[in-house]
Amino acid sequence: MTMKKIISLTRRSFVKETSLGAAGAVLTLNGITPLCANYMQDSNKPALLGGSPVRPKGSVLGASWPIYDDSDVKMYLDAYESNIWSEFSHIEKERVFQIEKKYAEYMGSDYCVATSSGTAALETAQRAIDIGPGDEVITQTNTFIATALSTFNLFAIPVFIDSDPETFMINADLIEERINENTRAIIPVHIGGAAADMDKIMAIAKKHNLVVIEDACQAHLGEWRKKKLGTVGDMGCFSFQAGKSLCCGEGGAVIGNDEYLMARAKGYTHIGNDPRRKGRVFPGSNFRMTPFQAAILSGQIRRLEEQSTLRDENAAYLEKLLGEIKGVRATKKYPGQTRRGYYIYGMIYEKEHFNGLPKSKFREAIRAEGISFGNGIDSSLHRNPFIETYFNLRAFQKIYSKERLDKFRRENLCPVNEMIERETGLSLGQKVFLGSKKDMEDIVTAIVKIQKNSSALL
Ligand SMILES: Cc1ncc(COP(=O)(O)O)c(C=O)c1O
Repeated sequence: MTMKKIISLTRRSFVKETSLGAAGAVLTLNGITPLCANYMQDSNKPALLGGSPVRPKGSVLGASWPIYDDSDVKMYLDAYESNIWSEFSHIEKERVFQIEKKYAEYMGSDYCVATSSGTAALETAQRAIDIGPGDEVITQTNTFIATALSTFNLFAIPVFIDSDPETFMINADLIEERINENTRAIIPVHIGGAAADMDKIMAIAKKHNLVVIEDACQAHLGEWRKKKLGTVGDMGCFSFQAGKSLCCGEGGAVIGNDEYLMARAKGYTHIGNDPRRKGRVFPGSNFRMTPFQAAILSGQIRRLEEQSTLRDENAAYLEKLLGEIKGVRATKKYPGQTRRGYYIYGMIYEKEHFNGLPKSKFREAIRAEGISFGNGIDSSLHRNPFIETYFNLRAFQKIYSKERLDKFRRENLCPVNEMIERETGLSLGQKVFLGSKKDMEDIVTAIVKIQKNSSALL
């Protein structure tokens, strides 16, 4: 189609003559002209087949990450020049103390214990409730490996629950069948930053007297019924690793309201010391955060709300655009989710709207257009060989009978998550949502371009 012909199209013929259909109609109705203009590119050859890409080579979709300025650098240097490079007194003037106070306030929790990483936070929380050999902790297959490592490292067994195909979250309806006399806790993961179904999970935990530790490592500022994710269960764990929407390179935190549990948590991070000045009375390690990590966080946290609001706006805009096309849609959210956090934004690919084009080929084609989609899930941990690595450890062989481990292996099935991984899961990283409206439009333009050319890409 020539440029002249495109320009002369009426709205009606534009809709009729293109496979954009509803997309063209609503996007133009809403006066979103850039996408309409991009139609010229839509009709082009896909970049994978030698056409020009939607995004010029080298252009950054969204923002470069991390974001900082001179004031952040000064805060870091101040920590350096203070000559106090390790903090353990738990007093007001310490940088770590201050960030703990601030994060607790921010989250609306009574206590915050800073840790050296999110992995350390998860281990700390499980130590606080004395998870140990013989115990089982229910979690999900769709999570970063550290969620499960933190349980395995306590010589307990993480039990992997399958995902919901529409939300990509833990399928809470499958939890109860895996609870037995050894189950001590549930660790739901707010994977990607969206909320797990906390109403159902809390009800199950109450019924079976289980502790709930929310893995909110990817979910800063997300909310469930207006409460921050991480404050719905008994404890919440966060990661401040470099890619997270609140970051300091490496770092983490446990939050909670129970004074005793949180004292145990603090104690575990600092050689067993009860922070209430009651001496070295708890099991302990050294998972302390450094003042340098605290200094970076103090800088970063100033931008968290503003950045999250921008991500919310861009995500809402992208969802609106996606709502007008078929074939790629946002994952559903549970009604209790009043706000999401951002790490990985999940989407569902439906190949029937792309002439059967497999997801892998779609991802390859859209990458060539300058837009990188992830796989939609973090992992399929139930299939990960690390399970057998732990089961083969001398300690595991001593603690667990062959029958028990075989039973675990038989029940360790998560076909839905495998299907999401293989066929339907797509995702975009949090920094994409720090971009412009045009970035969101480019994403949809590229999807539509591939859709229109899907037979040629087969
Ligand atoms: C869901 C989840 N849990 C735990 C962790 C571990 O956090 P960290 O990398 O800070 O140890 C991460 C980090 O990516 C995560 O995404």
